[in-house]
Amino acid sequence: MGIEIYKIEKEQAWETRHTVMWPNKEFNYIKLKDDHVGIHFGLFKDDILVSVVSVFVNNKTCQFRKFATLQSMQGKGYGTMLLNYIIDEARNWGVEKIWCNARENKTSFYKKFGLEETKETFIKGGRSYVVMEKSI
Ligand SMILES: CC(C)(COP(=O)(O)OP(=O)(O)OC[C@H]1O[C@@H](n2cnc3c(N)ncnc32)[C@H](O)[C@@H]1OP(=O)(O)O)[C@@H](O)C(=O)NCCC(=O)NCCS
Repeated sequence: MGIEIYKIEKEQAWETRHTVMWPNKEFNYIKLKDDHVGIHFGLFKDDILVSVVSVFVNNKTCQFRKFATLQSMQGKGYGTMLLNYIIDEARNWGVEKIWCNARENKTSFYKKFGLEETKETFIKGGRSYVVMEKSI
């Protein structure tokens, strides 16, 4: 009971991604072609999966993707706990840089973790994104 963070199966990440990010799209929409090589983490509160994130390691860098907290549980610090956890994990793996494609309205959130905006930006699905990164 209480709060626990551990590795989960990609199928568990898919459920939460779909519910939080694209409930109106068909289920397959939320799958990434690289999910089979990703490392998926979940934060559980009282055994309920509340927040997920997927990590993709490539040499000394790692990208986190599809970070999502159940809507009713957002703003309570769970996402922060999960992100801090994977940054520590990545450091333990010997990773030197962590990065993400941040939705533009989320940049101030990621800045709290020391991620910095790069000059790389793009638009996808009508949303603006910026690449953010941090040396760890
Ligand atoms: C982004 C996301 C994963 C963050 O997860 P979360 O669990 O809500 O994260 P936290 O609760 O740790 O932080 C959210 C906000 O609450 C604040 N917060 C953290 N703990 C808090 C607490 N105990 N009390 C009040 N506010 C708190 C944080 O400072 C943060 O503020 P900000 O958004 O103004 O920077 C979540 O909002 C989400 O799933 N969004 C939809 C999908 C999405 O946009 N994914 C990211 C794509 S880049």
